[in-house]
Amino acid sequence: MKDIRQSLASILFLVGGGLLPATAQQIIPISTKNNALVLQVNADKELNTIYLGKKLANESEYAAIASQYRQGSDYTGIYNSAYTPAGSKNLLEPAIAIIHTDGNTSTDLHYVSHKTSAAGNGISQTEIILKDPAYPVEVHLFVKSYEAQDVIEQWTTISHKEKGNITLNKYASANLYLKGQNDFWLNQHYGDWAAEMKPEEVRLTHGIKTIDSKLGSRTNMFQPSSFMISLHKPATEDEGDVLMGGLEWSGNFRNDFEVDPLNNLRILSGINNFNGAYKLKKDEVFTTPKFWFTLSHEGKTKASHNLHNWAREYKILDGKGDRLTLLNNWEATYFDFDEAKLKTLISDSKKLGVDLFLLDDGWFGNKHPRNADNSSLGDWEENKKKLPNGIASLVKTAKDNQVKFGIWLEPEMVSPASELYEKHPDWVIKEKNRPEYYFRNQLVLDLSNPKVQDFVYSVVDNLFTKNPELAYIKWDCNAVIYNAHSSYLGANQSNLYTDYVKGLYSVLERIRKKYPTVPMMLCSGGGGRVDYGALPYFTEYWPSDNTDPLERIFIQWEYSNFYPALASGNHVTDWGKQSIKYRTDVAMMGKLGFDIVVSHLNENDLKFCQEALKNYGTLNKTIWQGDQYRLQSPWDNDAAAVSYVSKDGSQSVLFTYMVNNRYNTGTLTPIKLKGLEGNTKYKVEEINVYPGKKASFETAEYSGDFLMNVGVNPNATTSNTSVVLKITRK
Ligand code: DGJ
Repeated sequence: MKDIRQSLASILFLVGGGLLPATAQQIIPISTKNNALVLQVNADKELNTIYLGKKLANESEYAAIASQYRQGSDYTGIYNSAYTPAGSKNLLEPAIAIIHTDGNTSTDLHYVSHKTSAAGNGISQTEIILKDPAYPVEVHLFVKSYEAQDVIEQWTTISHKEKGNITLNKYASANLYLKGQNDFWLNQHYGDWAAEMKPEEVRLTHGIKTIDSKLGSRTNMFQPSSFMISLHKPATEDEGDVLMGGLEWSGNFRNDFEVDPLNNLRILSGINNFNGAYKLKKDEVFTTPKFWFTLSHEGKTKASHNLHNWAREYKILDGKGDRLTLLNNWEATYFDFDEAKLKTLISDSKKLGVDLFLLDDGWFGNKHPRNADNSSLGDWEENKKKLPNGIASLVKTAKDNQVKFGIWLEPEMVSPASELYEKHPDWVIKEKNRPEYYFRNQLVLDLSNPKVQDFVYSVVDNLFTKNPELAYIKWDCNAVIYNAHSSYLGANQSNLYTDYVKGLYSVLERIRKKYPTVPMMLCSGGGGRVDYGALPYFTEYWPSDNTDPLERIFIQWEYSNFYPALASGNHVTDWGKQSIKYRTDVAMMGKLGFDIVVSHLNENDLKFCQEALKNYGTLNKTIWQGDQYRLQSPWDNDAAAVSYVSKDGSQSVLFTYMVNNRYNTGTLTPIKLKGLEGNTKYKVEEINVYPGKKASFETAEYSGDFLMNVGVNPNATTSNTSVVLKITRK
């Protein structure tokens, strides 16, 4: 009888739509192409996770999973709750902790019902309603499954009908639970300005490892929320179980990895509750940000492909579209420019062959002109001395040169030396009774305040209204939040970190409603804000201010675990000592741009760049939309190798870069390609050959079989430090 009930529940679940009543030991399986997350409602109406792993062919067998494991019980005090409440019988790290209006700190959550609805395109969403039997508190747990991409998102809504505010002391988005043999490896990233995404990998020990951010804005500067967990050994590219996950949130986050005494791994991810106890009004619905994850049984490459496919389809603005190559003036001029200088650079953009000229920082402020980074943020009018004819005149010059025009903004920020600060000191996040602390000489505007949100929106809107042909925005965010205090929030100060981000998203939402397609770069003094919470509003991100190509090989390699190349803004600059060829070849592994003085290039360098841009035009679809293979890691080899294969298999490109300059190093053995068709013939030719230099690789034809099993040697050496091979199906 029990089995029939379970299968019936499963059938109803699959059909979806209606609300299902609670049945004893009810199974709720949520599956993607290869995996299943299986939840179970026990006889006490608790919602537990009983499985996260490969999908079983026969769903009815999920019911037998729980009996195979030693269970947490009243005897051990360890439970596998799918959303662990604090203060009742749970003794481990909670997902949710509430102080009720009567001061009680305990919460219990019981299953009430669930429904699954299909959203088309292989996407389905399960909503599970949980209620506290003693308090009028309701939690809805959402699990969204992207069948084709093998990705799952989880989040919750929390609401109540108590008299007055309840306090959410913790409000995680997800509470995963992996059964294991105490052999979980955590691969995480850390860094700083110009040193983003340094990997570290450790075997988790019992207890909790927390990775979090308390920076308020620019929250990924020290570490992002994205991570990997592999089973039984450090993650490898092509085999083994790897879970990649992260939070869709551009504010303070907190990931807890807790190995419990029964050797299970509990992963809790959500907004950081540090100084973040959230006061929730009666009937207000608090929605936690989404936590994303994918599970691969074929190593990191497969996990990355899942994420890249998912991100291009759903999480990056215009993820299936094209991108603009550009010339940026930041490193070419810094703050030192005027109209004439910019007009020369605009005409250089055309000469170089890029699509757009991007005017960076320094164009605004009159009472406080922006001639250095210590003033003017907030005063977004053209500086009359530098630009007497305004932005409009530059847009026109760009048009005359058949390039588009884009502009830099940092609209969330304010300089102490600005008219905005003089007029609206109450719009600034700061403690009245403490000295102001500056990060890059600036302060952060209080986006929890709707008036400030209107202001930030109007900064962008005014620019577009005045210059309808504006084609690109670089949105920067250089400061962290010090002295986190809002004049607007009154007694609810601990809502600030969360409401700041909600305010930011609401502004971005409005901008996207009116300007749905204009490309925008997500920059935060480099990669201080790269996450899937912000990326749906942006077409690309800026990985790092460090554009030394040698450093970028490592940085771009690491980001590529989680984000597709299409979104990675890579600029050729004067950082590093490498040749223009090396710099350009590295920048081509993503969205190519330049930030150099074109007129300083010698004839051959210019010719090389022009030619490289043309080559890029023939390869960009493959780099942006294809499958990326990290073939040879820069961390363990003299040369790094990365390839991209177009989805239709007709084209591939192999980038090889020397990362070691010691005597007699080079690609001594062939590099085996991946993702090609075995029985197909391919033409392999070297491109981006510097004018006057002999190609290091002789054009030839090989079968996919040969290329994938024997490989090709690009002959990179210390005197020939980067080689790009174009591989075309015959
Ligand atoms: C930080 C960014 O990362 C740079 O690219 C540049 O835009 C500066 N800000 C401008 O102040």
